[in-house]
Amino acid sequence: MKAGPSLIPSMIEEAVRGTTPVKHFMRNACEDAEVAGRKIAKGDLLMLSYYSANRDEAVWDDPYIFRIDRPDNGHIAFGHGAHVCLGQFLARMELRLFWEELLPHIQSLGLDGEATIHPANFINGPEFIPLAFEMA
Ligand code: HEM
Repeated sequence: MKAGPSLIPSMIEEAVRGTTPVKHFMRNACEDAEVAGRKIAKGDLLMLSYYSANRDEAVWDDPYIFRIDRPDNGHIAFGHGAHVCLGQFLARMELRLFWEELLPHIQSLGLDGEATIHPANFINGPEFIPLAFEMA
């Protein structure tokens, strides 16, 4: 990213895909349907697993690899359809500004120990990330 800050937007999409902070939502089927060969009846409760969808091997090459230049990153970490995340543009802007402001001030940045992730099955994120960096 230091070499090519133009990668910041695709890095952000990959970070949001990789972490998928909102794990799932529920939906009620409002009509009979069939999805990937599975029959869904009107009234069925469905758990939409964004985390799983963002690692679907049928969609992603090397889904477990973090690629800051992943092309056409059509992840669904912000949901999809009528209730798609209203804050997605603010979230992307905050992440972009953070990295645009930070990068010029650091020479290197890396893990300095083991990170821990908050255990939660709905919304989660990092709890503790030990970092080491060199100023530019
Ligand atoms: C990385 C950050 C964020 C992630 C991963 C995220 C993810 C999501 C997801 C998965 C949904 C449900 C979409 C669906 O049901 O299809 C949602 C809905 C929503 N999000 Fe976010 N969100 C983020 C940040 C934000 C921020 C910063 C705001 C507000 C400032 C926000 C406001 C909302 C609102 C209001 C909804 C409900 C929309 C509706 O029901 O019509 N989100 N978000």
